[in-house]
Amino acid sequence: MTVTTRQQQAARLQAMGIQVWVSREVTEDTSDLETPAETARENVVAPPVLPSAEPEPPPVVSEARVENTGAGNTQVDTAWVDEEPPLPTDDFMPGLDISEMSSQPAPAIDISSLDWPELQVAVSSCTACELHKTRTQTVFGVGDHAAEWMIIGEAPGADEDQQGEPFVGRAGQLLNNMLKALGLQREQVFIANILKCRPPENRNPQPEEIVHCEAFLQRQVALVKPKVILAVGGVAAHNLLKVDTAVSKLRGQLHHYGETPLVVTYHPAYLLRKPSEKRKSWADLKFAAAVVRGEQS
Ligand code: URA
Repeated sequence: MTVTTRQQQAARLQAMGIQVWVSREVTEDTSDLETPAETARENVVAPPVLPSAEPEPPPVVSEARVENTGAGNTQVDTAWVDEEPPLPTDDFMPGLDISEMSSQPAPAIDISSLDWPELQVAVSSCTACELHKTRTQTVFGVGDHAAEWMIIGEAPGADEDQQGEPFVGRAGQLLNNMLKALGLQREQVFIANILKCRPPENRNPQPEEIVHCEAFLQRQVALVKPKVILAVGGVAAHNLLKVDTAVSKLRGQLHHYGETPLVVTYHPAYLLRKPSEKRKSWADLKFAAAVVRGEQS
C-alpha cells in the first residue's frame, strides 16, 4: 500500500471519527513491519484485573478451545483421514498489517459500509464488550479476501490471542489438514471466528459478546462473497443459523447465511478428541466442495 493510499485511508477514518495511529515509516514490503502481535503489545495496555467482592462461579469452558489449556496429549495429529497427504510444513503468512490502531473507544460507525482497512481498524479498536480488557489483541481473520471458502469458528484461544491469527493451535493444524485433503491451502480460504477477542479461561462466548461482534463478521462475509461458508462447531453453526439444533443434525444439509450457502461440520478441536467422527466431517467437506462447484443447491 502506498503512503498516499494510507493517508487517504487515514483521512477517511478520521472523517468517520476514528482516531488512527500511523507508522512514520511505511514501506511496500510488509515483511519489514511489526507483526500484529508486536504492534498490539506496544499499543494496548491491559488494565489490572481487580478482585471482585463475590467469588465468581467457575466458567463454562469451551470445548472448541480447550486444547489451549495445555492439558492432555499435545502431540499433533497428522492422521486426518486415511488418504490424507502429509502434514504441511510451510509456514503460514502472518496476519494483515494493522499498524493503524486507536486507543480511543470506537465511535458508533456504520460497519456495513466499511472496506477491509477500515474494518480492520474498527475491529482492532473495538471496546464494545468486556473482552477488550483481557485480550492481548483482536483476531480479525486471515486469508484470501476473494476466497470461495469461508471457514467460521468460535473464538480465539490462547494461541490465537497471542499470535493475532485464528486457528493456529492444534485445532488449526487439523483444520489445515482438512483443507489440504480438499486440495486447498490455508491461504486460499478466509478464516474467521464468531468472536474477534478471546474469552478468558476459554469460557464459552456470551450472548452480549456475540451480539457486539456480529456486524464485523457480517461485513467480512459481504466483502469476501464466498461460495460456501463452512461453520465448524456448534457455536458457529448456532449463531450463524440462529438455531440451537445439535451439530449432528445440522450437518449433511445445505443451509444459508443470508444468500450464502452454509455447510455445518464438527469443530476440529472436537475431532481431535473424537477422531472416529473425522469420516463424517470428511463427508461434510466433500459436500461443501460440491456446493462450491455448483453441484448442490
Ligand atoms: N477455536 C476456534 O473456534 N477458533 C480459533 O481461532 C481457535 C480455536
